[in-house]
Amino acid sequence: MKNKRKVLKNKSVLLCVTGSVAAYKAIDVIRRLRDEGASVTVIMTEAAKQFITSLSLEIASQNKVYSDLFSDPMAHITLPAHADIMVIAPATANTIGKFAMGIADNLLSTCLLSFSGKIVIAPAMNWRMYENPVFQKNLNDLLSRGIFQVGPEKGSLACGEDGIGRMSDVSEIIEAIKSALSQKTLAKEKVIVTAGPTREYLDPVRFISNRSSGKMGYAIARAALRKGAEVTLISGHSLLSQPKGVKFISVETASDMLNAVNQELPSSTVLIMSAAVSDFMPAEKAKEKIEKSGELMVKLQKTPDIISEISKNKNRPFIIGFAAETGRKIDRARKKLKEKNMDMIIFNDVAKADSGFDVDTNRVVIIDKEKEIRLPLMSKDSVADAILERLSEIKA
Ligand SMILES: Cc1cc2nc3c(=O)[nH]c(=O)nc-3n(C[C@H](O)[C@H](O)[C@H](O)COP(=O)(O)O)c2cc1C
Repeated sequence: MKNKRKVLKNKSVLLCVTGSVAAYKAIDVIRRLRDEGASVTVIMTEAAKQFITSLSLEIASQNKVYSDLFSDPMAHITLPAHADIMVIAPATANTIGKFAMGIADNLLSTCLLSFSGKIVIAPAMNWRMYENPVFQKNLNDLLSRGIFQVGPEKGSLACGEDGIGRMSDVSEIIEAIKSALSQKTLAKEKVIVTAGPTREYLDPVRFISNRSSGKMGYAIARAALRKGAEVTLISGHSLLSQPKGVKFISVETASDMLNAVNQELPSSTVLIMSAAVSDFMPAEKAKEKIEKSGELMVKLQKTPDIISEISKNKNRPFIIGFAAETGRKIDRARKKLKEKNMDMIIFNDVAKADSGFDVDTNRVVIIDKEKEIRLPLMSKDSVADAILERLSEIKA
């Protein structure tokens, strides 16, 4: 799969692994970073070696693993100098404390002091350590200096206790790294993203819906967050987890979605309608479950057209719509852009198995009033980045 627009493509990540039980997850962090096109060099502490071998990290990263300050005398300067970002995952209380105090007594802590770029830390520890005021002071010192924190989460900890301290999921760590490296080109924007399918009820238990998973809309919401926007995600039923940092509104029907959009609209500057809103709904919804007897004739009527409703307003936001079509119907998308008075439309070929509903990839054409950008098959995350890059250009 071609993927030119990956945020981490060609980025050099210096991953610092410290002495926590969560150290084994560093392998997965490395794998995901490399999948995203980054190169990874690992520094590990002596304590980390109690939890994971340097060989595993070397195999995963396909790079030499560094640990000793004196065996590579210039490494504490050259490794940070060649890195785009430093990531401490997992980050122990000890290493966070040393960094906050400016202590440089091993290769990892010395590299942290000689690095002037973005640093992401993913703390992992027992809740008693995490809640300790000394640790909290150290953490806050680092945050006030612009260090990015991801996690920890609440949940069951390795020691068998429940509490805050579990290292964030790897996907959250990757998202935090991407966010730290993204330019905040949408910092002034308040973006509404709609996602997923709607459900139009025949009776209390049956509904008409479609195959939308919400993947494209959720990817757009995450990409907008990375670019610094304030994001409201209005979602129909989806199995995906809510992106951290969005205002999340759950809806079922097209009418619910229209109401939610209207409620959020006054303060919003951009509306991205990636939801697969049902075109039709049953003309009547039975109050009781419809009994099984003979044939059932269902009369359908049109659902409210959210984009048309919004685009006729005078103080409307910048509107981006999607045209999911099968086959070469790009002309219909161009027509829809004009007819519905949108600012941009994403033509989405949903006929192919690797594009459209419920898959991780998409093949789209970004059409706005000035140009058309035809993108190759890409991950939905990359498509989301491309759409928001074009939005940033227009808004700049
Ligand atoms: C079994 C075990 C698990 C540990 N897990 C953690 C942990 O999750 N987080 C943490 O901050 N310290 C943890 N520690 C303590 C650190 O390993 C210790 O503070 C060490 O000095 C950290 O060194 P480093 O920061 O140089 O890696 C653990 C210790 C043991 C024995």
